[in-house]
Amino acid sequence: QRLREYEFDVTRRREAPSGVWKKMVLVNGQSPGPLIEVNTGDIVRVKVNNLIWDESTTIHWHGIHQRNTTWMDGVAGISQCAIPPGKSFTYEFEIIDQRGTFWYHAHSKVQYTDGLYGPIVVHDPDERLPPDVDIAAERTVFMGGSFHAYGEDLLESYLQLSSAWSPSMPGVEPLPDVILINGLAAFTNCNLTSSTWPSFMPPICEPSSRQFTTPMPNTTTRPRLINHSSFTSLYFTIDSHPYLTIIEIDGVEVEPITVPGIHLNIGQRYSVLVSPIHSTTTGSFVMRATIPKSCFLPYVPYTSEILESVNHQGTALLSYSPNPNSSLPQNIKPVVNIPQNCTNLPFNLPVPIRKMAAFPPDTAHPSRNTHEINFQFQQAGPVNRILINKTSYSPLPHSAQLWLSLPQTLDSDSDPGSYNNYNFPLNQQVLLLPGPNKTVQIAINSRDIMEHPFHLHGHTFQIVAWGPGEFSGGTNPYTTWNLPNPMRRDTLTIPGLSHVVIRFLADNPGIWALHCHVAWHMEAGMLLTFLERPDDLKHLVHDMSPSTTQLSRSFCSDYR
Ligand code: C2O
Ligand code: CU
Repeated sequence: QRLREYEFDVTRRREAPSGVWKKMVLVNGQSPGPLIEVNTGDIVRVKVNNLIWDESTTIHWHGIHQRNTTWMDGVAGISQCAIPPGKSFTYEFEIIDQRGTFWYHAHSKVQYTDGLYGPIVVHDPDERLPPDVDIAAERTVFMGGSFHAYGEDLLESYLQLSSAWSPSMPGVEPLPDVILINGLAAFTNCNLTSSTWPSFMPPICEPSSRQFTTPMPNTTTRPRLINHSSFTSLYFTIDSHPYLTIIEIDGVEVEPITVPGIHLNIGQRYSVLVSPIHSTTTGSFVMRATIPKSCFLPYVPYTSEILESVNHQGTALLSYSPNPNSSLPQNIKPVVNIPQNCTNLPFNLPVPIRKMAAFPPDTAHPSRNTHEINFQFQQAGPVNRILINKTSYSPLPHSAQLWLSLPQTLDSDSDPGSYNNYNFPLNQQVLLLPGPNKTVQIAINSRDIMEHPFHLHGHTFQIVAWGPGEFSGGTNPYTTWNLPNPMRRDTLTIPGLSHVVIRFLADNPGIWALHCHVAWHMEAGMLLTFLERPDDLKHLVHDMSPSTTQLSRSFCSDYR
């Protein structure tokens, strides 16, 4: 076990990742931030200095379970009060029993959209890799949509159905202007109007062909794919490489399966094995991250102008030694079969390599004791809100934040707050999970036509059932169950107008968020929290170091 220490200086400054200048939030002057590379069992300590003068921040370690350290989970308004301007906070947590590919990102409003994110790789000698495969090198391929406009401005315009200065269409999710791969994108046509800038104020653009290039030995390598987008899933392919072998999904090793391309939703990770076609192959090949338009475009009223202005594809180069610097891609043979039907994609998954039957439910019938969760969009007057079970999440005022009021919350089942900006019932109340090591089963019903990526904090869940329509207490005849060896992951796609049933063990005391990872949706209230094992949590909070407690309290009252 080693202590791995990092220091993150968070700043905001103008950068041109694609050739177009935009306001960005950086870690140590870069975006993506530095790679955190550790071993299972290590302790990670990251001191975060918030050097932005007018924005608070937090960092969430996406996929890391934070076993017994729920207050290090980094969700503003839930696990901590955000780090105010000029202040520092030190995150410290142990990586217990986990390995694979993860990432970190700001979890305060939509701040990560503007660049506060980076990859995490956890190594473990016991990781189960396919036999007889010698991985000569690994690379993180960190990709996601980026907007020319600043996230907060876009959010404001999204939430207000009409607004005076509206980058993008009010009430409609902005489409990313470019797809970045490892922080770079080629944006060559500055005449295109941006989808996120009003035409009277065009962005400052210098045509650029900056493109991430990674040299690879020409044997088997392991790209670790991560989608850090704010809105869209991505379809990943490599030219002339129709065989990508998936070996890990969200930190879970899986039975290898070979596919021509990978559909990654926001927050999802895949490790793949890639080999050149011939051992003599040299030169560069284009890696492409493409927005599968059919998953989004039919559902949102974009104008043709907007559609044209968006670069639907980000590219980067994979260059085989001994010719790593050749920038001209060879053998351009794009793998182009971008799926046209998104609905079935999420469940065409390999099974986990560690065979594990589904956690048994409390009673024999698989649909018993299910928390059912429904989400839908609702417009109330001038505001866009998303409801989960008829409530819409909105953070409490800082003075009353959840973890701070934890001891009281735990002692009573009183409603912790009645703060309500929008005259919506807010789901401040936390959903109490069943007792220690009980199986929790949650059915999520989508009453919306678009796909939504849901992420659960604190757990890797099993996907035990899915189907079209609603779960309806288990009476839906189209529900497909997989109890013998269900897929396990921490972020899943819920296709439009469908349901998904997940299970996990209540073995991690804490307050955990379950939310749509579309940044705009989360801020519109598409989030709810679980209170897990409150008695154990009370003891953990009691034993917390007083400095952590004091610091967090001071953040809550400091904040403007
Ligand atoms: Cu990747 Cu709640 O976050
Ligand atoms: Cu969503």
